[in-house]
Amino acid sequence: MNLADSAFLRACRRRPVTHTPVWFMRQAGRSLPEYLKVREGVPMLTACATPELIVEITMQPVRRYGVDAAIFFSDIVVPLKAIGVDLDIKPGVGPVVAQPIRDAAGLDALRPIEPGDVTYVTEAIEALVGELGGTPLIGFAGAPFTLGSYLIEGGPSKNHDRTKAMMYGEPRLWHALMERLSGIVLEHLRIQIRAGASAVQLFDSWVGAVAPDDYREFVLPHTRRIFDGLADLDVPRIHFGVGTGELLGLLGEAGADVVGVDWRVPLDEAARRVGPGKALQGNLDPAILLAPWEVVERKAREVLRRGRAAEGHVFNLGHGVLPSTDPDQLRRLTDLVHEA
Ligand code: CP3
Repeated sequence: MNLADSAFLRACRRRPVTHTPVWFMRQAGRSLPEYLKVREGVPMLTACATPELIVEITMQPVRRYGVDAAIFFSDIVVPLKAIGVDLDIKPGVGPVVAQPIRDAAGLDALRPIEPGDVTYVTEAIEALVGELGGTPLIGFAGAPFTLGSYLIEGGPSKNHDRTKAMMYGEPRLWHALMERLSGIVLEHLRIQIRAGASAVQLFDSWVGAVAPDDYREFVLPHTRRIFDGLADLDVPRIHFGVGTGELLGLLGEAGADVVGVDWRVPLDEAARRVGPGKALQGNLDPAILLAPWEVVERKAREVLRRGRAAEGHVFNLGHGVLPSTDPDQLRRLTDLVHEA
């Protein structure tokens, strides 16, 4: 089948579909025994820089579940590592940065990214496009706020205190940091699209910590630059964050074609908040998959029902698959969405 006719790309473009497309954030990963097997003894960032492993891990959930899209196996910190930022991904913790960025001198660590920095990404995407055939590949990147939080805090953070201290206390430094990051993110996404990705998702996972007025002032201009900078490539742009109920309209305003919704706001209400001209993606609570199948089925049908209020609906979870999820639940859920 022609890629452009895939249910996923059609739903992103708000065109009629024969079935609701479905994929899962973090569909490749620790819930899959075949993932744990190929990752044995291989550090996360090594896996992300090895084309054969990237291809294999990206394909695993496509083979197992028959989802409507693949998401490129990588991590949001990969482009930062590629330009020389000293960081690692610690198991059970997440990204950890050796020298957090807290002043103007720290910005020097962030030079522009070039295609030659991430040849393993290009190589893996070119191989994947051949293997996937009619199944679209989603490229992705972390958004400037979320990447900035890891760089400023030095690791994961509950309240993003230092991040907000810079945002409110040193706005010039903040905007300079966001500008560097948006340049890197834009180019990293363009590299993935040129290599063959047919949609992109920008993860601003932690931006739900910011109030709407502050989002408009400190975040939106930088995110908009990224989405505007992708317009000529004509692929659907998805924008997602956790706890963003109060920001849904602004996430769309920043320039996304598809707004990702976490599990806290029902999709019909999300459609109202986002307004016309956008598709929605979401939003089953990933923890529901830990309950018996009957519960999953009832809740998934509710998501599908409310999703009809959107101009286009891509079924997904409200955040990533939890590592303790039984893959059989995801297989049944994929079938349910396809048959419903
Ligand atoms: O969705 C997919 O299947 C594609 C792969 C993917 C990974 N990270 C692989 C990964 C994607 C899209 C990401 C994005 C990412 N990374 C985000 C945005 C998405 C979100 O969840 O909000 C964020 C915030 C990160 C930062 C990060 N990297 C975290 C919080 C963690 C988890 C730490 C832990 O061990 O609990 C990582 C590591 C990571 N990235 C893993 C995977 C499969 C687990 C590491 C491992 O398997 O050893």
